[in-house]
Order: sequence, then C-alpha cells, then structure tokens
Amino acid sequence: MELYLDTGNLNEIKELSDILRIDGVTTNPTLVSKERKNIIDLLDEIIEVIGEDKIVHAQVVSKDYQGMIEEAEFLSKRYKNIYVKIPVTVDGLKAIKELSNEGIKTTATAVFTAHQAALAAKAGACYIAPYVNRLDNISGEGVKVVKDIIKIINNYDFNTKVIAASFKNSQQVIDVIKEGVHSITVPADVMKSMMGHPLTDYSVDKFIFDWERAFGEGTKVT
Ligand code: E4P
Repeated sequence: MELYLDTGNLNEIKELSDILRIDGVTTNPTLVSKERKNIIDLLDEIIEVIGEDKIVHAQVVSKDYQGMIEEAEFLSKRYKNIYVKIPVTVDGLKAIKELSNEGIKTTATAVFTAHQAALAAKAGACYIAPYVNRLDNISGEGVKVVKDIIKIINNYDFNTKVIAASFKNSQQVIDVIKEGVHSITVPADVMKSMMGHPLTDYSVDKFIFDWERAFGEGTKVT
C-alpha cells in the first residue's frame, strides 16, 4: 500500500514524514493556494523535505487540452518523480492520452465514476484518483466507486494504480484499504486520527505504572 500526505503545508509534511513511511505528497490548486506560495517554490520545498526519491502529484490548472499539455510538460521537465494530475474531463482524457504517448506520467484526478476511471486507465493514466468524501457528501457511495475501479483495473490488467483521495474520516480510509486500494492520500488531521487510540495510551500508562511499582521509578529495560 502506498501512503501519501494530501497537503501542501510544509509543517504538516515535515511532522508526518518524520514519523511515517510515506511514498510522497499530493497537492491540488486549492491546497497550493492555501500556502500563498508560487507552486514551483512550494514543490521545490516539499521535495527538499521528503527527498527526491519520493513522489509528488501536482495538478494543472488549465481546463483546455493545450493548456494542460503545456503545464504537464513544464512540470515533468522540472521534476523527475512527478505525476501530473489531470482532471477527467473530455479535454483531460485527450491530454492524458497524449501525455502517455510522450512518456509523461499522469494521475487522472477528480474522478467520481467508474466510467471516468475506465476511460482514464485506457488513455494511459498511471494513477486514478477517486474522491471518496466528495461523493459521500452528495449521498454517493465513495467506497463502492473505489471498489468498482479496483475491479476494472484488475480485470483488464491496466498498468494503473488507484490512489483513493478526499477523505474526511478514518473510517473512509480503512474502508478503501480493506478493498485493496493500491494507494491512499490522506490529509494531516485524518492521518493523525489514525495514529493512536486512547486505550493504547491508557494501556501504556498502566504497563509503566505496574513496572515502576515492581522495579522502581525510571528503571529501563537493560
Ligand atoms: C487529492 O488528490 C485530492 O486533490 C484531494 O484528496 C481532494 O480532497 P478534498 O475533497 O478534501 O478537497
């Protein structure tokens, strides 16, 4: 399972990449805009923190085919380990096909249906990013769509991974993991909610209490 941080915030990236074995970072125009930095400056800083061997997924902002191609070519020339996020629209599908022909790695993003995913995989997308919470918010079934997409990709042996995105709680995350999703990208608050449990803290305190009562305060395993 690949694990990504869904944020453009350097403090969050520093804190969580120090703790967890992450495969990289995903951003989108909204996440970049929150940092109030030029995207290239921000991506440079992110890569400096996580290391050049890790992956970044960064998105184009053009809506038209030609604009998407130009932005994707620009990003892929500058960064070795980048997957250019292209929204799955008519222009987006055409761009994914062309970029795949050029050997530029893409992540088909803003995916809400298995139909979009099937066409993006066929067009040559390396990753497909279905948005779980945004679907759940409109009474859709985010996890079910992820499950369908995984099945399609496995059925046809597409050289494409599913990177499930848009999470608002840890249940959504665990539900897609149980379906065997290849990758997840998780915002910092949801990631932190997955990293422990009050009963774990209670149990650790109890272990230490029992130990110190028997062996004395501050004694270690030696
Ligand atoms: C990831 O690639 C997406 O940009 C992101 O997960 C969208 O999440 P949101 O629905 O929380 O904005």
